Amino acid sequence: MPFLPAKPTSLTNGDFVFLALVCAIYCLYFHPLSRFPGPTTSAISRIPLALRQYRGRPHVEIAELHHKYCNIVRIAPDQLSFQNLDAWKDIYGHRKGGAGENSKDPRRQVLSKNNLLGADRENHSLFRRSLAHGFSAQAIAEQQPLINKYIDLLIKRLHENAGNPVNMVSWYNWTTLDIIGDLSVGEPFGCLKKPQSHFWVTTIFGSLKYLSYVRHIEYFPLFKFLSPFLIPKELQRQQNAHYIDALMSRKPGTRPITQLDIIDHAAVLVIAGSQTTATTLSGTTYLLCKHPHVLSKLQAEVQSNFSSEDEIDFNSVSRLPCTMAVLNESLRIYPPVAVSSTHVTPPEGGVICSEPIPGNTYIDIFHWPTYRNSQYFVEPNSFIPERFLGIDPRLANDKLDLNCIGKNLAYLESRLVLARIVYNFDMELSRQS
Ligand code: HEM
Repeated sequence: MPFLPAKPTSLTNGDFVFLALVCAIYCLYFHPLSRFPGPTTSAISRIPLALRQYRGRPHVEIAELHHKYCNIVRIAPDQLSFQNLDAWKDIYGHRKGGAGENSKDPRRQVLSKNNLLGADRENHSLFRRSLAHGFSAQAIAEQQPLINKYIDLLIKRLHENAGNPVNMVSWYNWTTLDIIGDLSVGEPFGCLKKPQSHFWVTTIFGSLKYLSYVRHIEYFPLFKFLSPFLIPKELQRQQNAHYIDALMSRKPGTRPITQLDIIDHAAVLVIAGSQTTATTLSGTTYLLCKHPHVLSKLQAEVQSNFSSEDEIDFNSVSRLPCTMAVLNESLRIYPPVAVSSTHVTPPEGGVICSEPIPGNTYIDIFHWPTYRNSQYFVEPNSFIPERFLGIDPRLANDKLDLNCIGKNLAYLESRLVLARIVYNFDMELSRQS
């Protein structure tokens, strides 16, 4: 008997419901991550995580989940969040004995494969080695005259405005942008001179939000076509302009890798090296105004150590324990990087915080929830700089970790700015704010 051609079948709504149900049951009971606690909706769908990102408070919402469940929470069907300080080295560190390493989430490469943030392991090591020398404590100390030039200008401008309410968030951003502009592309952005935001600042602030949307949509292949529409047209135009800007103002000379790498890195350095330090200083200023007794201690430390402002330099600020403790505690309370750098376990799996983790699992560690973990920090929601002075045995275990190549520059810049602000001014929150 001749075979009749099979009649093409199409899926009905009932089939879709059935398939969705099967997937949900698999995710909940049979998926390798099903033993990890978390909300049911997150175990069966990625949408809750995307919504957390969209609402702009993923760090706070993830902290609430850790508070409700435990230190390891399933935040998407194939994704875990950790709230342990030890997880830093297990997730980001190099493995010994040939064990497979966790790699960066490949979706990051969509936005930044030519720079440190999105590069694969091999390129990342190459970039990091090329940049490491320029970020050593010694190299940063040599840049002191350049850094001081902009801090002098900041102090001058603030004196001109003394007595009036000023928006310190803007002033700090203008200062850090001028410094990093001069350090990385050879020219300041002229923010402190004008004083006003360079279009870079508006582009940076505007882009960060939309870039996080674009990154998350990569998890939903059916909706990827929406990506170009997520970034407003004006912002796209500004982004293109800033790449041209970086190229035109780049100093001729050393070219460690390729031209594209350099342009991309200039952009990364300006973003990573300005807003982070400015946010740290803004958070510190706010917390000091909210805690005048800490501000008084800081003023006493700075004023008793220096008889003239010229004495405040790279070496002398490193001998101010209270200033350092205030900055560390502010970084803990308001870590400037709110998002996590998602990594993925190797196909054979790995071990994180003594817990075996299946292969190809997305893994996160957010700063904010980790620094608010009462297992590591006594009274985690309170501003207590003494926890970093090592004098109170109750706080002896409190520690902070930062996996950042720009750490030396960030600490130098923020200590110099803070010490000089406190040396020159008394401050309080404006009633208008
Ligand atoms: C207080 C200020 C700062 C904080 C809190 C901070 C925080 C961080 C964090 C959490 C990361 C890891 C992010 C990730 O892997 O996705 C990072 C990476 C990075 N930071 Fe910073 N940062 C600060 C200042 C700076 C400065 C001044 C620079 C200098 C230009 C800088 C340059 C970088 C770069 C290039 C990376 C990528 C490193 C890599 O992937 O190997 N940061 N930073």
